[in-house]
Amino acid sequence: MRELLENTAQRAISYLEGLGSRGVAPAAEAVSNLSALDTSLPEEPDQPEAVLKLLDDICSPATMATAGPRFFGFVIGGSLPVTLAANWMAGAWDQNSALYNVTPGTALVELVALRWLLKLFQLPAESGGAFVTGATLANFSALAAARHAVLKRAGWNVEADGLFGAPPITVIVGAEVHPSVTKSLGLLGLGRTRLIKVPVDTQGRMRVEALPSISGPTIVIAQAGNVNTGAFDPFSEICERAHQAGAWMHVDGAFGLWAAAAPATVQLTNGMVNADSWATDLHKWLNVPYDSGLALVRDTDALRAAMAITAEYLPTASPYRNPSDFTPELSRRARGVEVWAALRALGRQGVSELIERNCRQARRFGEGFQDAGYKVLNEVVLNQVLVSFGDADMTNRIISDIQTDGTCWCGGTVWQGQTAMRISVSSWATTDADVEASLEAMLRIARAQDRRKAR
Ligand SMILES: Cc1ncc(COP(=O)(O)O)c(C=O)c1O
Repeated sequence: MRELLENTAQRAISYLEGLGSRGVAPAAEAVSNLSALDTSLPEEPDQPEAVLKLLDDICSPATMATAGPRFFGFVIGGSLPVTLAANWMAGAWDQNSALYNVTPGTALVELVALRWLLKLFQLPAESGGAFVTGATLANFSALAAARHAVLKRAGWNVEADGLFGAPPITVIVGAEVHPSVTKSLGLLGLGRTRLIKVPVDTQGRMRVEALPSISGPTIVIAQAGNVNTGAFDPFSEICERAHQAGAWMHVDGAFGLWAAAAPATVQLTNGMVNADSWATDLHKWLNVPYDSGLALVRDTDALRAAMAITAEYLPTASPYRNPSDFTPELSRRARGVEVWAALRALGRQGVSELIERNCRQARRFGEGFQDAGYKVLNEVVLNQVLVSFGDADMTNRIISDIQTDGTCWCGGTVWQGQTAMRISVSSWATTDADVEASLEAMLRIARAQDRRKAR
C-alpha cells in the first residue's frame, strides 16, 4: 500500500508542476489516446501500480488544465495545495460523515468550517448550513427550506403531504437567473418555467421598479454575481419588498457571495444579509477540489425540516449537529474538511487577498482589451469580463483560436444579444505574469484575425 500511495502522490505532484508549461486545453492526440481506456470489463485482476500508471499516462494529458494558472473559462477555481492535501487526508479517513456519533472528527470540522464561513460572509451566526456538491444543490437545498417555510405559514406540511392540493407558491426571479436555479425549482416541483421573471438592466440586475406586487406564499430569488457580468441585484430594495409581503428571499451567490469577504468588494453585497437563505460554491472562489458547495439558511429549523431523516438504526441523538440533518444525502463525504483547511491556512486576510487579487486581474484584462480598441461589454465590478471582437462570427473565431493556441483558455457566451468571450479570473494560481502572458496571446490572436479580415 505505502509504495502505491507514495508513487501516486509523486505522479499527482508532477502533474501539477507541469500545468504552467503545457497547453491549457488537452492536445487532440491526447484526447484520441483516451480510447486506450475504453475497453471491455476486465476479467482478470491487474496490478494496482499498473492501473495507476495507465490512468496517469493516458488520462493526465487528456485533462483540461483547470487546476493551472491560465484557465479562465466558466467560473472555475483551482485547488489550493493545502486543500488537495486535506482532500487526500479525508480520502484516507473515508468517513461517511452523516452522523456526529459515528464520525465525530469530520462532523466537528464541518461545524467549525460552517461557523467560520458565516463570519466571513457576515451572515447571521445562527444560520443552518449544508455542505453539498455545488451551487446547484446548494440552491436546491435552500429552496427546499424556503418551500417548507412558505407552505408552513399557509398551514401546509409539504414534506408530509407533497404538493398535490397545496397552496400555490409564486416564484419571482430576475430575467438573468442562472439555469441551475430553475433546474432546482423543477426538482422541487415548483416548475422550471412557472416563474415570474423580472426585467433586468444592461448588467443583468433586477429592476426593482419592475417587481410585481407580492402576496400569498412567495419565494423571491436574487443573484450575487451574474455568471456573465458579475453584477449584483439590489438586495436591500428587493428584500424590503419581499419581507413586507411575508415572502422568502433567497440569494444565489455561487461566486458573488465571496465579495462579502473582501473590503474592496463588500459594498456590492449591501443588504444581502437581510435575505433568508444563500447558496454558494466552495470549488469556485475558495479554490477547494471539486465538488463542493454550501447552502445557508437563516431559519435552521426550516432546513432541518426539509432534509432530516430518522430511523431506528441511525444514532441521531447527538451533542453536536448531524451533517445529514441538513443535506439531501444521508451517506456523504465530509466536504467541509477541505473548506476548513483552506480557511485555516488563508485566514480572513488570505481570503480577501485572493478575492481582491482576482478582481484586480479581471480589471487588468478589461483595461488591456479596451486600450487595444476592443469592446468590453460589462462593468468589471468583480472577476468577470465580457469582450466582443466585433460580430459573432469574428468573436467565435478568435475564441476558437485562443483555445487552440493553448496559452490560456476562455469560453464564449451571448450577452443580451451580443456574442462575447467570457473571462473569469477565479484561481489562486493565477499570477499577474499569467495575466500579462494571456492578454498578450489573446491580443496577438485577435489582431491576426483582424489582419486576415482586412485582406
Ligand atoms: C450564479 C450561478 N449560480 C449557480 C451556478 C451553478 O454552480 P455549480 O455548477 O457549482 O452547481 C453557477 C455556476 O457557474 C453560477 O454562476
